[in-house]
Amino acid sequence: MRVVCISAECEPWAKTGGLGDVVDALARAVAAIGEPEATAQQVVQSQVWVGTGGVMGQAPSGVSAHVERPVDVFLPRYRGVSVPEDAKVTPLVVPDPLAPEGVTEVSLVEFEARGYRVRLIDHPPAFDREGYYGGIDGDYADNGWRFGLLCRAALEALLDDDRPVDVLHLHDWQAMPAVLLRDVAYAAYPRISSAAVMATIHNMAYQGWLSREQLAGLATPDEIAELVAPGAEGLLLLREGIQRAELVNTVSPGYAGEVLTPAFGMGMDPVLARLGHRFGGILNGLDTVVWDPATDEALSATYSRGDLAGKAQCRRALLTELGFDPDDDRPVLGMIGRLDPQKGFDLLARAAPALLDEGARIVALGTGDRKQVSKLRAIAAKRPDAVAVVEKFDRGLARRIYAGADLYLMPSRFEPCGQGQMIALRYGTPAIVHRTGGLADTVVDVDAYPDEGTGFVFAAPKTAALLEACRRAMSHHHAGGEAWAALQDRGMAIDWSWEAGPAEQYAASYRRAVSLRRER
Ligand code: GLC
Repeated sequence: MRVVCISAECEPWAKTGGLGDVVDALARAVAAIGEPEATAQQVVQSQVWVGTGGVMGQAPSGVSAHVERPVDVFLPRYRGVSVPEDAKVTPLVVPDPLAPEGVTEVSLVEFEARGYRVRLIDHPPAFDREGYYGGIDGDYADNGWRFGLLCRAALEALLDDDRPVDVLHLHDWQAMPAVLLRDVAYAAYPRISSAAVMATIHNMAYQGWLSREQLAGLATPDEIAELVAPGAEGLLLLREGIQRAELVNTVSPGYAGEVLTPAFGMGMDPVLARLGHRFGGILNGLDTVVWDPATDEALSATYSRGDLAGKAQCRRALLTELGFDPDDDRPVLGMIGRLDPQKGFDLLARAAPALLDEGARIVALGTGDRKQVSKLRAIAAKRPDAVAVVEKFDRGLARRIYAGADLYLMPSRFEPCGQGQMIALRYGTPAIVHRTGGLADTVVDVDAYPDEGTGFVFAAPKTAALLEACRRAMSHHHAGGEAWAALQDRGMAIDWSWEAGPAEQYAASYRRAVSLRRER
């Protein structure tokens, strides 16, 4: 099976959030599936596909389980992305509905790195801009043209390749033009039209709305006539994409169940419900090589399960770095994330005064909408000894917080999967989370399940509930001793790796998508 990913982000070439980490790790991990040395267990697991509601589908026979190396990842070349000197650069003529001649020349910049092939679409008018998706005035009005061009360029490059593609794995709305175009612009090109599409939704909150006017950048008038009903005001890329894909998934079983309801579906719930067993959830893995306290170079001391001496040193170093008293044992709560209402920094701000009264210290790190942390910043200005708000993208500090904090907070209102809670547990830092989406799938409440618990879970995204969970966490931390060490140890013992499950689930899904495409 030849698998090609199209995405707007892939770490380290483009990242604003978890999407970038996931596409990078997934592309590397699936390429190892089905290889001759794969274990019998991997092969068995890869034959089972888990849909929502526990529906299990057998992956089809007659479709190879072997994912060819290298997997391709198409992505835009945004401003400032540097490439290896020996990267191959090829001009590519791409249909462009806005160009007077109907075509635009872009550059395809290709190189192998990190276990897969990166194929950057380089076209400065589209991608050499301040932001990936928009500037201070909001989303770019021509995103339909920009991401349409990304997808068309990817399909044109695939037409020129010497091997046909079996699976197009499309991530989020920015990649959905590829399946629309497969159906309306490339129907006569078996190379493209025979490819199966797996669509992965990383966050239902971003759906890619294009007005009629904006659609002109995505498709020609003839193509638009096929894509949009006559009276419609425009088109939602995510919605169209998931209706045309062979298989659709989101990034945890918990979130998959939630988005089938109006409360979380953001209007997409009926569309997903119609897919039946062609929609499911696959929990993201974590790259356990990239995230490992035993080898993490950003830490002043490394540590691992069974010997947490280094973690104590990381704690002292973090507190010193933040200007807190490193000798104070009282709990330090860490929180990292995009500054977006989804993440619940406002809930933390409202709980903060009570938490400070009870002796906690707080460190928050994030970038995005500064308004989200204005209250927290005001509290930090009054209590610099106890609250630090760092508004920048700082990979090193993020790692030092995962390692040096005593507790990790994730009060997200909704969370498709979430990565911070997995990293925190792996770094020996019990997590306090809202029981939603991927958080509910990954953290077990220790008061409810004393022998299995890895953190503290609360039921509603409300200040009082968050505060109550923090109080329980702080009292466990204060009691310390063996019970605390066992809580940390259970979190550190979990194998979140892609190889432990998710990579095989994707490989099985690819096989199933291929066979569904053949049936259509
Ligand atoms: C989005 C979601 C997050 C998920 C990530 C990767 O950023 O908000 O929950 O972990 O995508 O799938």
